[in-house]
Amino acid sequence: MDWGMRNRLSKIIKPDDSRCLMLAVDHGYFLGPTDKLEVPSTIIGSLAQFVDSIMLTRGILRTSVNPALDVPIVLRVSGGSTIVGEDLSNEEITTSIEEAIRLNASCLALSVFVGSKYEHQSLSNLARLIDEGEKYGIPVLAVTAVGKEMVRDARYLSLACRVAAELGAHIVKTYYCDNFRSVVTGCPVPVVIAGGKKLTEMDALNLAFNAIRDGAVGVDMGRNIWQSEFPVPMAKAVKTIVHDNYSADEAYKVFKHEKTSSETKAWVGNATSD
Ligand code: R5P
Repeated sequence: MDWGMRNRLSKIIKPDDSRCLMLAVDHGYFLGPTDKLEVPSTIIGSLAQFVDSIMLTRGILRTSVNPALDVPIVLRVSGGSTIVGEDLSNEEITTSIEEAIRLNASCLALSVFVGSKYEHQSLSNLARLIDEGEKYGIPVLAVTAVGKEMVRDARYLSLACRVAAELGAHIVKTYYCDNFRSVVTGCPVPVVIAGGKKLTEMDALNLAFNAIRDGAVGVDMGRNIWQSEFPVPMAKAVKTIVHDNYSADEAYKVFKHEKTSSETKAWVGNATSD
């Protein structure tokens, strides 16, 4: 692996502990202005300092992220279908490698839809993107997207993750499931988990803890952070699980403490402005 590739990977998976906390804010590429992500600049501005990297599209990067912000970018480069369209799995590569270089991306992200009508297309997209990334030393994160009709079990996710790794993905993102260890064991590259739909804060912290315990190198979490009523305390709590080996209960204490501090600050702010 060349120096550039290793350097970029080290910005995503921190070399000190081989773990990563990625903030996913790419949802608008197929969902539009999702609840609590209507104005991405607000979320990104308040959370960037508490995560290792941000996953987003070029449109949100250009419009909503201050170029002076010192945070590595995981650039979502697949898309082309929406939640109201015919088939979400019908994706193409939507951003060129030259554009990714101009935008100083540290990693590229693309979804694969194993078992879907567009399985072949999405896997071919992945292989082509990896070839492009290899030319310039940019790693690729393969997102194993799961259609509504597909079961998120270890058998399916192991297949999807392994296929992505065999095609050359440098990191694979998937979902936590029963027997998650077997998914990690069968995948020769680092695995991160998506957070999925909004859960209670305690459940989301348990999910992150279980994934790390079972071999994930980290999380690429979105809704369970920015749909929380207290996104910054939640990001800080998830970080303690990823980087400080906190248990879910310990991390929840951090969440509650940070939540109380932010409520107090807001109260003092309101009181002094009266
Ligand atoms: C889905 O394909 C998107 O790439 C999201 O980035 C991913 O699902 C992670 O976000 P969340 O934690 O909200 O599931």
